[in-house]
Amino acid sequence: MIDMHCHIIPYTDDGAIDLNTSIDMARKAKDVGYEGIFATSHYIIPDNEVLNEEYVQNIKKINDTLEKENIDIKIYHGNEIFFTNDIIDLVKDHKVCTLGDSKYVLVELPLFNSIIPMNVYEEFNKLQDEGYVPILAHPERYDFVTRDIKNLIPLIEAGVLLQSNIASITGKYGRNPQRNIKKMLKSNMVHLLGTDSHTTSVYEIYDKAMNKIKRTLKNDEMLNTILNENPDKILNNEEISIWYPKSK
Ligand SMILES: [Fe+2]
Repeated sequence: MIDMHCHIIPYTDDGAIDLNTSIDMARKAKDVGYEGIFATSHYIIPDNEVLNEEYVQNIKKINDTLEKENIDIKIYHGNEIFFTNDIIDLVKDHKVCTLGDSKYVLVELPLFNSIIPMNVYEEFNKLQDEGYVPILAHPERYDFVTRDIKNLIPLIEAGVLLQSNIASITGKYGRNPQRNIKKMLKSNMVHLLGTDSHTTSVYEIYDKAMNKIKRTLKNDEMLNTILNENPDKILNNEEISIWYPKSK
């Protein structure tokens, strides 16, 4: 099982504050069952442009420490790219990392848009034209989803994959994201699950959250697909197929 969304790299964004925290997060991730983590550090122009060289060195440092301490979990490349024009150029110029160097690109949108900005389709199209697959991070947190989860259908139809945060179901991000993820799960609109950990706190509520997700989804096969199989497919750069959304 691979965590496809995690801010484990220290000194990079609002995630792990130092190497000790990173190692602690990795240890706790291992305890709840993860074998790998995509290190999806924020990439936000112009505030948080992660220097690729430093980032890659940090991943190596964490992996070396994990090996030394016999913690059997591996950290892979990634970024959570804050939506901007010409993401495709950032990818092609290696200013950002795709997930595990695959064709999958994790993108987040501003939280407070009541409609999807129109250029989202245009920019995602540019990625797709070059063979990349956009993944939208935590859709349940966006205002346009709170307004109506059906607003996600055109994105799904445009080939965008949706990644929800496990802790959204516990209310960690407030009532709206909690309601939204429940609706999304019941409507086949969650394609991938990740922790979006910034510290160790998510692992404390992990089992409780997963139980809630299981009870809401009522489909163990689908749960296995979105939690285990699909993140594995990203790591292996394989195709992900999805269930068609139920309209509710
Ligand atoms: Fe994140």
